[in-house]
This record gives sequence, structure tokens and C-alpha cells, in this order.
Amino acid sequence: MSRILVTGGAGYIGSTATAILADRGYEVVVFDDLSTGHADSVDSRATLIQASLLDPEALASALVGCEAVIHFAGKSLVGESVEKPELYHHVNVDGTQNLLDAMATAGIDKIVFSSSAATYGQPVDDPITEESIASPTNPYGASKLAIDKMITAAGISAISLRYFNVAGAYESTNGWLPERHNPETHLIPLVLRATAANPLKIFGTDWDTKDGTCIRDYVHVVDLIEAHILALGALKPTVHEIVNLGSGGGYSVREVIAASEQVLGRTVPTVESPRRAGDPATLVASIKKAKSLLGWTPTRDLVTMISDAVKSQVQ
Ligand code: UFG
Repeated sequence: MSRILVTGGAGYIGSTATAILADRGYEVVVFDDLSTGHADSVDSRATLIQASLLDPEALASALVGCEAVIHFAGKSLVGESVEKPELYHHVNVDGTQNLLDAMATAGIDKIVFSSSAATYGQPVDDPITEESIASPTNPYGASKLAIDKMITAAGISAISLRYFNVAGAYESTNGWLPERHNPETHLIPLVLRATAANPLKIFGTDWDTKDGTCIRDYVHVVDLIEAHILALGALKPTVHEIVNLGSGGGYSVREVIAASEQVLGRTVPTVESPRRAGDPATLVASIKKAKSLLGWTPTRDLVTMISDAVKSQVQ
């Protein structure tokens, strides 16, 4: 049974990966400073090491006996990154350099990295392919692109997975693993908690899209983690691949609201609001490379993402 180090394994996506890897028989070591993650999200079969990427000794001891790393840890709020660019560079870029250095010392040369569609910035292509220009428009995206370049320079076996909009939840043997961000900024959790007193703000209704609201490519977190497991098996010596992960199609904000109303069986209170700074109108992934390189096809649709998010929040 192979042992995998999962950095950021107490966060929404990392804890889902940890539970699914444990279900598949992997031995999982979670490395997380719990600055935004939750210890009670970590599957009981995993070992939790509470430490920061900025602590090289802790990284060295966590890597002992590991065959590969899945690297989720990092700061991940676009808005916060604009206010605190140095923090994002320090934790994400310097922290990942520490991880790569510790891996080199330990002789571990396999990594699957949680990159982001934010590396592309304002898209010039629709859909966005891995060859599309990467020109991030915020420090969060810049940090992810810098890490992708560092991984290439390291010359190890690597796959960077560029996520589009991740949603839904996984029901593990310990219960549902909900999306728990504080503050919550993501559309689907905010739609589910909207009330008449606190309606969902629709950020912009005058975009150049079919209904005037932004279009995004939503992918179920369980499909997303399936791609990570396939990526572990697709690593090739000294090759670094970059792969987009979305569903290959887009939904507008209004379509997400309509699908949520269908799942909830009630109206979602909304208020039309100004555009949010930095939002592109449309972000849709080409997932041809994920299909050809990983043999991956997402199978869970938008209604499944929303209904799993609902179940995870009411357990
Ligand atoms: N939206 C609203 N109201 C809200 C929240 C969001 O209308 O209260 C809209 C946004 O304007 C956007 C869509 O819903 O059009 C999705 O917004 P999210 O905040 O859920 O997701 P983003 O597309 O902004 O962000 C995602 C990832 C980021 C990543 C980014 C890349 O969550 O980590 O894509 O651009 F950086």
C-alpha cells in the first residue's frame, strides 16, 4: 500500500481527497497548519501533522516513507490576495519551494499539484486550453503560476491540475465533508444560505453572456479527486504536465440559481448587484487533455453538485 502526503488535507478539497484515498486503500499523511482547514474534516484513517509549509523540519519528517505528494496547501482567496500579495507569495510560493526542497532531500520525485484557472487571468480563448496564455490578474493566480514554473524547473514527475469551479461534496464513512470556508465567497454555498433578509447578490447582470450573468465551469469535487488519483497513476519520470479540470461546459449565475431552486423546491432570494472587480465574463475549460492523458471524464452534473452540497450542509 503506498503512502501519500496530502498537504492541505484538512481543507474542503484536500479532506475530500484524503477520505477517497483512504477508501481506495492508500495510507494518507495529512500536512495542514489548520489556519483555514478543520481537524474534524480529516478522515480518521489518516495521520494529521499540524504544521506549516514554512517549517522545513516538519516537512522532512512528514515525508518519511511517502511515495508521492498531492499538494493542496495554500492561501486561496482571490480578494485577500489582492490585499496581501506578500502573504500569498510567502505561503504559496516560498512554502512550495520548501516542499520541493524537502522532497528532493528525501528522494521523492512525484507530485500532483492543485493549480487553478486563475493562472490564465482574463481569458482569450473559449474554451480555455492548457496552451492558452497564462496571464494572471491577481496575486493568487500569480502564485499558482509561479509554482507551476517551479515544478517544471524541478524536473520531477509532476501533474498540475488547473481547477475551474469546484462544487458539491463527498459522503465519506465518517459523514459528509461540506465546503466550510470563512468567509464563504463561493456561489453555490452562498445560494443555499440566501434568505429574504440576506439575499444572494448577483454580481453583474450586464455581462456579454446569454442572460447577462457570468458563466463558469462547475466540476464536482468527487470527479475532481478522481482525476487526482488518475494523475498519480499517469506520472512519468521527469515530465511535468498541466491539465485543466472542469466539466467542459458552462452555466450562468442565473442558471445555477434556477438549478438550486429546483433542488431546494423553493425560490432563492436574490438582488441584482454591481459587477465584482476582477471577474471575467466567461471561464470554461477545455477538458480534452484530461480525457486523453488521464482517461478522465466527469460524471456528476450541476444538479448533483447542488444536491450533494445541500446534503452536506444539513447533516
Ligand atoms: N457570484 C455571485 N454572487 C456571489 C458569489 C459569486 O454572483 O455572492 C458569481 C461570481 O461573480 C462568479 C460566479 O458567481 O461569476 C462564481 O463565483 P465564485 O466566487 O464561486 O468562483 P470564481 O469563479 O470567482 O472563482 C473560482 C475559484 C477561485 C479561482 C477562480 C479563477 O473559486 O479559486 O475561479 O478565476 F481563483
